Amino acid sequence: MQSRENWGSRFGFVMAAAGSAVGLGNIWKFPYVTGENGGGAFLILYLAFILIFGLSLVIAEMAIGRMTQKNPVGAFRTLAGGAWPLIGYLGVATGFIILSFYIVIAGWTVAYMVFMLSGHLASTDSAQIAEVFTGYIGNGAWSVTTAVLFMLACCAVVVGGIGRGIERASRLLMPTLFVMLLILVVRAVTLEGAGEGLAFYLKPDFSKVTGATFTAAIGQAFFSLSLGMGALITYGSYLSRSERLPGAAFMVVGLDTLVAVLAGFMILPAVFAYALDPAAGPGLTFITLPVVFAQMPAGTLFGFVFFALLFVAALTSAVSLLEVVVAYLVDEKQLSRARAVTWSAMICLALGIPSALSQGAVDSLVFGGQSFLDWAAQLTDILLPLGGLLTALFVGWVMGPRLVREITNDGDVAFPLAGVWLFVCRFIAPLGIAWVLIAGLI
Ligand code: PHE
Repeated sequence: MQSRENWGSRFGFVMAAAGSAVGLGNIWKFPYVTGENGGGAFLILYLAFILIFGLSLVIAEMAIGRMTQKNPVGAFRTLAGGAWPLIGYLGVATGFIILSFYIVIAGWTVAYMVFMLSGHLASTDSAQIAEVFTGYIGNGAWSVTTAVLFMLACCAVVVGGIGRGIERASRLLMPTLFVMLLILVVRAVTLEGAGEGLAFYLKPDFSKVTGATFTAAIGQAFFSLSLGMGALITYGSYLSRSERLPGAAFMVVGLDTLVAVLAGFMILPAVFAYALDPAAGPGLTFITLPVVFAQMPAGTLFGFVFFALLFVAALTSAVSLLEVVVAYLVDEKQLSRARAVTWSAMICLALGIPSALSQGAVDSLVFGGQSFLDWAAQLTDILLPLGGLLTALFVGWVMGPRLVREITNDGDVAFPLAGVWLFVCRFIAPLGIAWVLIAGLI
């Protein structure tokens, strides 16, 4: 068997994993979910979940991957057998579901880069922008086309493999993303009237916290960290044994959280500065923000940079989703990488088309008060924590100290909190996640 390809450097791995984590979840979803759930109160819950469950599980997933050098299904099979590989299958299936709606929303960023430059969004009237937005997403041909274009970009990266595809793209794109983000944050917080938005963001309003807030916060934490579906197992499987795991995991979690928090600093003050509604929901990015840009000096330029930022963030995340499925097909079904990419992209598109058409083109794709896309997105808010819960059980009760030895390279690498980590995987994460999931359902 050909030996498995490895990341070329630590920096390359961290950029790729951070690229997976930093995505639409941070820049599109986090600010609007925060806006809907009482600002600072949601921020506190989100940060708590990242710290309590997120960090431990990121380390666990990366370690499982590095130890087995396999895709999620193969990894669980190698380590334990029995029913455990089902966690891997669940992960691959979840990857398909997420990618299917992810490409639709990412496709919107493709269209918006063009709209920004063509002047379609140059209006200070949000009703008019809303018309542009709904007109576009409600046009089935257009929304499918942009999803396909985005999928093609994603395939172009993944087909190149780990070093020359994913790592090379991430090393280039992630630093670019940080620069764009910083420019936009500085622009937003120096707008006149930004203070009110900062207060909303940082002062918790606990009256808005309900059971649903907890589910939203945990779903957001898992989604944002790319956790609970084997993406980090897959990326970890391309790590060489000499890599120091806890440090890399800290960096990835830190970068992801930083970008989400900064995205809040970029968007919420701007929304308040122009007296718009922070609880506008999913349209916050695509309807409210263009209004902000239209009023801002050099707004066209900043607007374009913003949607380019969103595109880049989405691309490096979608790449990791696709890689989970591709790694499974390559490892387990012995497909060539090119074939695996072609097949997974086609199945994903087939699943994504109903999502794309559910935004106004086909009425019957809206049911139970939500669109097909909303249903798919909501399902992942449950599937990811569920995957995380099962992984925690596996790590805590089946692997235990064996995985600690893996994380510390048999004692060579410091992992001072190993005891706490194991306790979290055994008790805190399974019970805590189960409690949040059940509380959210009832
Ligand atoms: N973390 C990505 C985001 O925030 C989404 C994602 C989820 C990517 C799961 C891979 C796996 O947008």
